[in-house]
Amino acid sequence: MCGIVGYIGKNKIKDILLEGLAELEYRGYDSAGIAVLQDENFSIYKAVGKLENLRNKTQDFHPEGFAIGIGHTRWATHGKPTELNAHPHIGSNSYVVHNGIIENYQELKASLIKEGFNFVSQTDTEVIVHLFESKLTKLNDPVKAFRATLDELQGAYAVLLITACSPETIFFAKHGSPMLIGLNGDEKYFASSDTPIIGLAKEAIYLEDGENGYLDATSTHLFNEKYEPVKEQTKALATSKLSAQKDGYRFFMEKEIYEQTHVISDTLMGRLGEAEINFEELDPELFLGINEIKLCACGTSYHSALAASYLFERYSKIRCSVEIASEFRYKEPLMCKDTLFVVISQSGETADTLETLKMAKRAGLKSLVICNVDNSSMVREADASILTRAGIEKGVASTKAFATQMVVFWMLSLYLAKQRKTLTSIELAKHVSLLREVPSTVVVKDELHEKLRRLSKRYLHGHGFFFIGRDVFFPLALEGALKLKEISYLHAEGYPSGEMKHGPIALADPELFTIALMPTNLLYEKTKSNVEELSARDSTICAISAREFDKADDFIKIEERSHYMHEFFEMMVVLQVLSLEISVRLGNDVDMPRNLAKSVTVE
Ligand code: G6P
Repeated sequence: MCGIVGYIGKNKIKDILLEGLAELEYRGYDSAGIAVLQDENFSIYKAVGKLENLRNKTQDFHPEGFAIGIGHTRWATHGKPTELNAHPHIGSNSYVVHNGIIENYQELKASLIKEGFNFVSQTDTEVIVHLFESKLTKLNDPVKAFRATLDELQGAYAVLLITACSPETIFFAKHGSPMLIGLNGDEKYFASSDTPIIGLAKEAIYLEDGENGYLDATSTHLFNEKYEPVKEQTKALATSKLSAQKDGYRFFMEKEIYEQTHVISDTLMGRLGEAEINFEELDPELFLGINEIKLCACGTSYHSALAASYLFERYSKIRCSVEIASEFRYKEPLMCKDTLFVVISQSGETADTLETLKMAKRAGLKSLVICNVDNSSMVREADASILTRAGIEKGVASTKAFATQMVVFWMLSLYLAKQRKTLTSIELAKHVSLLREVPSTVVVKDELHEKLRRLSKRYLHGHGFFFIGRDVFFPLALEGALKLKEISYLHAEGYPSGEMKHGPIALADPELFTIALMPTNLLYEKTKSNVEELSARDSTICAISAREFDKADDFIKIEERSHYMHEFFEMMVVLQVLSLEISVRLGNDVDMPRNLAKSVTVE
């Protein structure tokens, strides 16, 4: 999804903007651009495709000394990925970059065309810069013109604007899309997430919705949506982005799969007692009066939520329902105050999920977010938060974020079980010791990786994949299918094993690949019957189990384990590595698959 950077200062502005954009690459984009204003002259560069193309175009551009500039990576929403549609968008003497969607852009565009403005792009963003210049002509004051512009914009946005009539100032506004300002003496940075700024600034202002203002090298002017001055609250920024490098792996996704063992240890750290789970960040009163949990999320996070619903009902004996955020928003949902509303999000910025959280808060529900990014919009919005501690996840296809979400959910179901007295101390102690072993279940063994690499060549074609499983292995099957389609572009579906005979089995033939999740500690015989039904109809079966299964064409053996959750985590790794190797053989961009964005900040 789109990314924004901005800079005011005397350092190498071109490098700062381009390197900042590179830090946002993993979010997904299809064009990029920068605009630099120095000595009253604008320099503007845009390119379609990878940042490399933009770098090539700026080869002969070497600004020295004080300058201001803005940059953008665009993930096309309105209009194709072309140079004209790439940001920054130009007026006659101003440039703008924007994340989000301006919902009333068509009305605004129509009236600006009547005023005589000429539009060159198909984007919604371009209205912002023309509207600003229209207001500037009438009001003759850039601050007033910027505010008058914001007053007319509807939708979600984060905006940076530079204009020749105030050549040392960047105007900014945040309304629904993330934005922060990094401060380092007389150098100022803007970005849509903190990674471009880490290492450059020590502290940052995380803007709240409705906040706007302008700043130059020596002063910051921050206002709320009524344009009343706001006292800036700074927060310390992380100092190292070492964890976001590839460390010798071919892809970020591969590195992230391998580091699951470490990040899961981090997720568990300080949270495991003898026979209880400690979440220092939770006020135990959060669950007072709660009779139901509603989980809401998108994508991979939705899959972890689905798996969690089995754990909450099984261990905490509490009613639990799961919703896809984009569906929940418009279904006119009934929300009861005895429901704890839980959102799950790697980024904490997904627009649909964030909106459901706001809806729940408006309805007076207590809320909790399970999130990987501290200070993200959801963490700031929810009553309580649990951080998953997976570290920066760069691969668009989520792996370690899912793994850590599952660990948090398992712990949370036990935390609640203790409060609600639905498990005995002996049972709780048993679970705690099982949790301690999770890091070892996700270690990627060389032989396993090599086997999956060899096997992958047999799964590059066919008319589709079914990933099947029961209970928590059904959401894991959904997640396995999602991983495969995200990075291989092959058609894959996840299904509950028991549902296959209600329709999907009609597709069974040798060109239909079934990836069967067959844990020995949970409903093995039931799952086995379902897989046999497919095998009898000549579907090509790849079984994943600790127990040999002779009706499979391919068999991936996992370790004998004593608990199904350990089988869950080991199979999760198998599915991740299998997708990765299929994608590699197909020559796809593993870390930045086509059409996808890491963080979806539009609905
Ligand atoms: C995008 C990403 C997915 C992710 C989903 C939800 O679609 O490509 O990997 O699962 O958003 O993101 P979140 O940050 O809310 O977990």
